Formats: sequence, C-alpha cells, structure tokens
Amino acid sequence: MARRREDLLTAEDFRRAARRRLPRLFFDYIDGAAGDEITARRNCAAFAQIALQPRALRDVSDRSPGSRFLGGSFDLPLMLGPIGSLGMFRAGAETDAIRTAHRFGIPVCLSAFAMTGPEDMPEPPRPGDAWQLYVLKERGRTGAIVDRIAAAGFGTLFVTVDTAVSGLRERDIRNGLRRITRPNPAMLCDMARHPRWLLDLVRVWPPQMGIARGWPEAGRSYLEQAAYLAGQIDPSFDRRGLEWLRARWKGRLVVKGVLHPDDARVCLDAGADAMVVSNHGGRQLDGAPATIAALPAIAAAVASRAEVLLDGGIRRGADVVKALSLGADACLLGRAYVFALAAAGEAGLAACLGHLRQEFDTALALLGKVSPADLGPEDVSAGWA
Ligand SMILES: Cc1cc2nc3c(=O)[nH]c(=O)nc-3n(C[C@H](O)[C@H](O)[C@H](O)COP(=O)(O)O)c2cc1C
Repeated sequence: MARRREDLLTAEDFRRAARRRLPRLFFDYIDGAAGDEITARRNCAAFAQIALQPRALRDVSDRSPGSRFLGGSFDLPLMLGPIGSLGMFRAGAETDAIRTAHRFGIPVCLSAFAMTGPEDMPEPPRPGDAWQLYVLKERGRTGAIVDRIAAAGFGTLFVTVDTAVSGLRERDIRNGLRRITRPNPAMLCDMARHPRWLLDLVRVWPPQMGIARGWPEAGRSYLEQAAYLAGQIDPSFDRRGLEWLRARWKGRLVVKGVLHPDDARVCLDAGADAMVVSNHGGRQLDGAPATIAALPAIAAAVASRAEVLLDGGIRRGADVVKALSLGADACLLGRAYVFALAAAGEAGLAACLGHLRQEFDTALALLGKVSPADLGPEDVSAGWA
C-alpha cells in the first residue's frame, strides 16, 4: 500500500517511494554503483560501525547547529552535492533543490550535467553555492565554462577529480544507459509503465543540458549532450592541470574526490581552499575505502590549512555528527536528497532535510554538545557497534 507523504521521513523511506515512481533505469542509475557495489555499501556500513559516546549532566539548553564553511554561515553543517541528470528524475528538480536548500539555510552545488545552466538560478547564488566542473580535453572550452560560472555570480567552484574514466556501473550497462543518445524500445516501455513520472516530465520535454547551450555539435537532446560531455572529460588532468585551474578561477576552489593524504597535499600545494573526501558514492572504483575511514588521515594531513568536506553514505543526522567528530567541516548529501526529491518533490526534500536537522540536533544534545564546533574524537569510538 502506498504510504502517506507524512510517513516519509528517512532516506530509506524516500528510496522505496522513488523506486515506485521512477522508471527502473533511472532508479538504478541513482541507486546503483560500480562493480559489486561493495564501496557504496561500505560507505554506509562504516558509519554504522562507529559508536557515539553520550554524555549526561551537561547544560545543552542553548544549542545551535549552525556552522561556517565555504565562506558562509549556514544553519547546518550540510550541503546538497552535485548530482547529474537531477532534472530527469522530476521536472524542475534542480530549481526545487536550490530553493529548498536556501529555505533550510544550507548551500547547494549544481552538477556539470545539470539540466539548468549557471545562468538559470531561480534565486541569486548565495555564499557557498557552487557549480561543479569536469575539466575537459579542450582547455579553451573549460575556461569558457569557468567564465560562465563566474559571470553567473558563483563564488565557489567544485572540480571533480575521481572520474579520469567512468566507473563500470553494471546496472546501467544492463539497462542500456551508458553513452546512449536516444531511448531504445525497452526504455520507452519502462517509461510508459511510470505514468506519474512521464506526465510530470513532459512539462520540460525535450530535456536539455544547461552547460551545452551554444554547443550545436553536442546534439539536441539531453542524452546526446550528456554523452558528448562525458566523452570530453580529460583523463590527463593532473596536478599541473589543477594549478592551471587555480590560476584561471579567482573564487573559492574545492577539489572533490580525494581519498589519500598525499592527494590532499597536492590540493593544498595547488592552492585549493577545500576538498571533499569522496569516492563518488561508490560509483567509480569498487573496492575503494569508505570515505569515513579515509577521513582522519586526510584531516591530519590538511591540518586546518583548508576545509575538509565529506560525502558518501550520509543518510542520517548522526552520520554528519560522526564525520564532524572525525575531522570534517561539513558533509554533502547525495542519494539521500535525490530520492526525496524524486519521490515527493520540494515537499519531500523539505521533509528529508527537516528530519535530518532534528536528528543532528538531537544527537548533538545527547552527546552533551551545543554546537558542531564542539564535536571531536572523544564523541566517537570505532571497532564495536
Ligand atoms: C545519480 C548520481 C549522479 C551523480 N552525479 C555527479 C556529478 O555529476 N558530479 C559529481 O561530482 N558527483 C556526482 N555524483 C556523486 C555525488 O556528488 C556524491 O559524491 C555521492 O552521491 C555521495 O554518495 P551517497 O549518494 O551514497 O551519499 C552523483 C551521484 C549520484 C547518485
């Protein structure tokens, strides 16, 4: 039986609801990961392995979950991470994400593969709001994208560096979703079997990729443009490329996809302002470590010379508490918010963020802490659950 909207609270609730609403190929695209999906599961399992240490007899009556990172002051140490094709899961999903993030006082990072362009923000970018970039083989074109992002008023650029090649996501291969340029008959049947999704999406048909505006050679449909952009990502992008980007982009630069302390040092040397400890949600190298396991060594190497964010497996407010206790300045949400948006639009995302905020605040209070800045290694222990 379908659940009432007010019953949808947790990431798992929204995941199930999204599974019913979305064509199988899109649900699998979100939910799936590389290979045996070990790393994707490991991200969540590693959080479950960490115990929280409650403390009593402390005055926690005056609490604030607010936090400063990426040059802004936010109501939670959380942001919405970059998700390609978001607008394919629900019409206007990117706009809904931006508005809802702002309503909750948190920033948002739009994906290079977004259906909107940097110029299409429904509200002017706020401090911390970011656009995500893949560095392309043609540096001239990459520079032109960087200029568009700056001209649209963004102060922060994320560059994703864990995608020298695209991970092998077997669900996508089986569903025929890799590098396709138009839906095949099986996909059309799948879409027709999900009329609520289909009727909603016809409002924005034919979907387009915002960044490809003015690139006639990229094709005319979202699928063609996405395949074209994916083919342009530069596998030779290295530390010299990062230095080039640092010189080209005058704003705050965040490197997304760091899993080793030596790579963190390269980011520091190149002048990055922040980095995201990320394994792309297990979508790239299956077998890679859980991000929360990689965090302490990276935080130690960075030693407060840059901000350290983390994503991968954040499903509950307590996961954010654990990441901050182990050295993160803030966390990015991925699938947790995508499923909420896909399942129930802006109301769904608001319910998801509202519940996460309550969970975060409750955990903070029960640990005897009054603000995210108070969290430290004394609040967690690993090795038993
Ligand atoms: C459907 C989907 C699309 C994604 N697209 C992008 C993208 O365009 N750029 C990027 O840097 N990361 C992308 N990611 C990775 C996320 O930003 C984030 O690192 C990951 O989802 C975190 O793991 P979690 O979803 O398990 O929390 C994508 C993830 C998903 C699930």
